[in-house]
Amino acid sequence: MEFNVKSGNPEKQRSACVVVGVFESRKLSAMGEQLDTVSEGYLSNILRRGDLEGKLGQALLLHNVPNTLSDRVLLIGCGKERDFGDKQYRKVVAKTITTLNDTGSMEAVCFLSELNVKGRDTRWKVRQAVETAQDTLYTFEEFKSKTDSTRRPLRRLTFNVTTRKELTLGEKAIEEGIAISKGAHKARDWANLPPNVANPTYLAEQAKLLAMENEQIDCEILDESELKEMGMGAFVAVSQGSDTPAKMIILKYNGTDIEQKPIVLVGKGITFDTGGISLKPGDRMDEMKYDMGGAASVYGAFIAATEMKLPINLIAVIAAAENMPSGKAARPGDIVTSLSGKTIEILNTDAEGRLVLCDALTYVERFEPEVVIDVATLTGACIVALGSHASGLMSNHNPLAHDLLNAGELCGDRAWRLPLWDEYQEQLESNFADLANLGGKGGGAITAGCFLSHFTKKYHWAHLDIAGTAWLSGKQKGATGRPVPLLTQYLMSRSEN
Ligand code: BES
Ligand code: MN
Ligand code: ZN
Repeated sequence: MEFNVKSGNPEKQRSACVVVGVFESRKLSAMGEQLDTVSEGYLSNILRRGDLEGKLGQALLLHNVPNTLSDRVLLIGCGKERDFGDKQYRKVVAKTITTLNDTGSMEAVCFLSELNVKGRDTRWKVRQAVETAQDTLYTFEEFKSKTDSTRRPLRRLTFNVTTRKELTLGEKAIEEGIAISKGAHKARDWANLPPNVANPTYLAEQAKLLAMENEQIDCEILDESELKEMGMGAFVAVSQGSDTPAKMIILKYNGTDIEQKPIVLVGKGITFDTGGISLKPGDRMDEMKYDMGGAASVYGAFIAATEMKLPINLIAVIAAAENMPSGKAARPGDIVTSLSGKTIEILNTDAEGRLVLCDALTYVERFEPEVVIDVATLTGACIVALGSHASGLMSNHNPLAHDLLNAGELCGDRAWRLPLWDEYQEQLESNFADLANLGGKGGGAITAGCFLSHFTKKYHWAHLDIAGTAWLSGKQKGATGRPVPLLTQYLMSRSEN
């Protein structure tokens, strides 16, 4: 898809379609009014007849509107004007995209970015529209023999801005939107791939390819024997039941002075989580191919940041392994020694994410990071707590937590903070080792975060539990690409000051 900005009048657009908003009840937006005037009341006549009330998400496609130069005019319902906020704006854009794509307009000029969204400027509106458009049109059909492709798909979308001065802003916003979408798209592809394809070796190969394409990117892979030698006993314990060896993938990007401390992203990359010897029930187990969603989002945010050439130093570390039961697999009761030297009693082999992460989190100390953010589909308990609307956020540093919460609000990929109080730490005590990998009854997302906090004492750290947000189940099953927008927004905000 191609995106443009321009500044002009709706009636002067020589286009397959011009898109304008209509609020409830039957109230044309300013640009709609303008079209109505030149067409001598053509639009208001139709509205008066009751064809479109203006409810959020309604759409009405008109042909040959008098005195206009475009083939079609698409009226999009925006709901009540005073309720028009971020969520409504995104919904309206998504509806526009599906309608255009389904009705043969291969290009269109969109006047929705001129609508007033509370507290949001042109840059925000254009960027969000690009992201929403790309998100809406995403498909994953690599493994279908026949694809149901649209006959005349939408190829180009032009956003109209009110003043010529805003054109540069709009262009910048398009670049940002495209970069973020590219990252989110890659994350979704990685996560949607079947687990017999996207194993640790595959992820490592992809990362190497990425580094080959870009001079500013370096890639290093540590294989399972190296991990073992280095003392990552917790990481290796997860992988030892699998025939596909674990990999630690390290991607580095230098976008500024090498003296500047790096921001480090760490992703849980369990390419399939059977639970191991503590085997999961069979129902919906296929969805555990998404247990590398953290890795996918870290990879996606890394791509977005490098596409935008952000002036930061960024390191992405992916702990990739497969959690399988076998004669070689770790048992409940096994005690392993982590890279930090702390011993861990594995009470449940299905609590494997924290085992790979704890060693990765110790490993990244060597980079003397500015901050470390780990991202993981870590606990079913986080889904119980927050559902699928917010990712769980835990942190040992308030400013970092606030930055992440704000980044999420800004881009609509929200997180919600959970506490890491000492009281929860007691749940991780083991009779036989320094720590148990299981927190017992209650507060499962938090005790998992507490477990990780033992390995992150040397730097500012935040943990995002994306178990509820990384993918959708049911009929719409598929990866969401979250939290690529949140992470990228955080990186962008950091590089601005
Ligand atoms: N990958 C799962 C968490 C998960 C489960 C995410 C379902 C999304 C949907 C993780 O490895 C896991 O199995 N966690 C256990 C932890 C428990 C054994 C302490 C869980 O949440 O049940
Ligand atoms: Mn598990
Ligand atoms: Zn898991």
